[in-house]
Amino acid sequence: MTIFSASILAADFADLESQTRIAIEAGATWIHVDVMDGHFVPNITMGPLVVTALKPLSVETGAVMDVHLMITNPDAHIDAFAKAGADLISVHVETCPHLHRTLQHIRDLGVRPGVTLNPATPVSLLEPILPDVDLVMVMSVNPGFAGQKFIPASIDRVRQLRRMLDAIGSSALIEIDGGVGPGNAGEIAAAGCDVLVSGSSIFGGDIVANVRALKQAVAVTV
Ligand code: DX5
Ligand code: ZN
Repeated sequence: MTIFSASILAADFADLESQTRIAIEAGATWIHVDVMDGHFVPNITMGPLVVTALKPLSVETGAVMDVHLMITNPDAHIDAFAKAGADLISVHVETCPHLHRTLQHIRDLGVRPGVTLNPATPVSLLEPILPDVDLVMVMSVNPGFAGQKFIPASIDRVRQLRRMLDAIGSSALIEIDGGVGPGNAGEIAAAGCDVLVSGSSIFGGDIVANVRALKQAVAVTV
């Protein structure tokens, strides 16, 4: 079954807890936290404090705290996000010269390690590390902002990753992030993607109706 991860970057921050609760109760069962440092990506967003603030809601509802680090030096901040309550931490391959060590460190902290890559980074680069991850995330926009246009070539990257994971018998999940909405969710899920991140398509307007539309799109196509 396809999982929907609600990217709170697109939520109303004055009303963060209640908007996130509505998204979870409507069926977006993961909370996607976009951490940006104004260095690796042009935008500055949120830190461990936001994870701490939403952790009670995640515990109460069973929602998975899905933390996406778009920062130059993730190694310096992983402990803080683990302590704040991350269930899953994804790091960018472009920011980790010692990727194996970084992923191992995340796992040692009792957090599920994920790896992600920018649209211009070859998927094949991940091959040596696939046995060590619980999740691979395909960026389907250039990271930095919510509300960008989906890059269509990302669907083939999902297919390629699905083949690579199947070849080694891995049960790691594939997640996609950026520009996902009811118009493309079905095709993405059918390509073999397990987790769909959505920001604007969930928090823009009626959250319950939006999540329902996403679920409907996947149910129809898969
Ligand atoms: C982009 C972020 C995404 C983004 C998703 O850098 O990693 O998670 O907020 O938002 P939408 O669904 O609006 O593209
Ligand atoms: Zn993200």
